[in-house]
Amino acid sequence: MSKVNVMDHPLIAYKVTRLRDKDTTVKEFRELVNEIALLMGYEATRDLELKDKEVETPITKTIGKEISKEIAVVPILRAGLGMVDALMSLIPSAKIGHIGLYRDHDTAEPVEYYCKLPPDIDKRIVIVVDPMLATGGSSAAAIDFIKQRGAKDIRLMCIIAAPEGVEYMQKAHPDVDIYCGALDEKLNEHKYIVPGLGDAGDRLFGTL
Ligand code: PRP
Ligand code: URA
Repeated sequence: MSKVNVMDHPLIAYKVTRLRDKDTTVKEFRELVNEIALLMGYEATRDLELKDKEVETPITKTIGKEISKEIAVVPILRAGLGMVDALMSLIPSAKIGHIGLYRDHDTAEPVEYYCKLPPDIDKRIVIVVDPMLATGGSSAAAIDFIKQRGAKDIRLMCIIAAPEGVEYMQKAHPDVDIYCGALDEKLNEHKYIVPGLGDAGDRLFGTL
């Protein structure tokens, strides 16, 4: 069974609250998503394995560390895009894949429209990012695609998760650990997270 890591950092709790506020502007929403992704990125990379690397300081040679496995960050379009810059600033060598999915308005089922992943995705640690884990359908489908390309070491980073989405993901992908900024109460009848923050893509890109 996968691990579910719910963040307990006070700054994440404060910033998620700002994100939820319906009066938060598009500009501030975008900045907050970036800042939360940066803080969460520390936690989601805490267990990365290291290997020795020799480095020469101005004084002497010494043995330092480097990350032993390359990383790929895969945002689920659209809203996952808001979390990419933060992870790129933490891990500049990461390659970026993109998966385009949207939830059909009537059925809430994910519909794929784009998939472009680094060719060596099977050798990388893959961090899938999407602010919202609601029914779990989009994340589970995105991870299906990534696994079809051979990836084995995958983790999911989302800012707000619903218990229903966590359960669905754990059944569909018991090998994928989940990192979330907040675990909310439930889904409503339209499959939106309660209390949630509304439609993350629309709030991020001003398409409300
Ligand atoms: C949102 C969100 C997730 C998905 C979560 O995307 O960014 O991808 O819904 O819902 P689920 O867990 O029930 O699948 P949306 O479909 O609104 O697309 P968008 O990012 O293009 O607005
Ligand atoms: N997608 C969103 O953007 N918000 C929700 O609450 C559920 C799915």
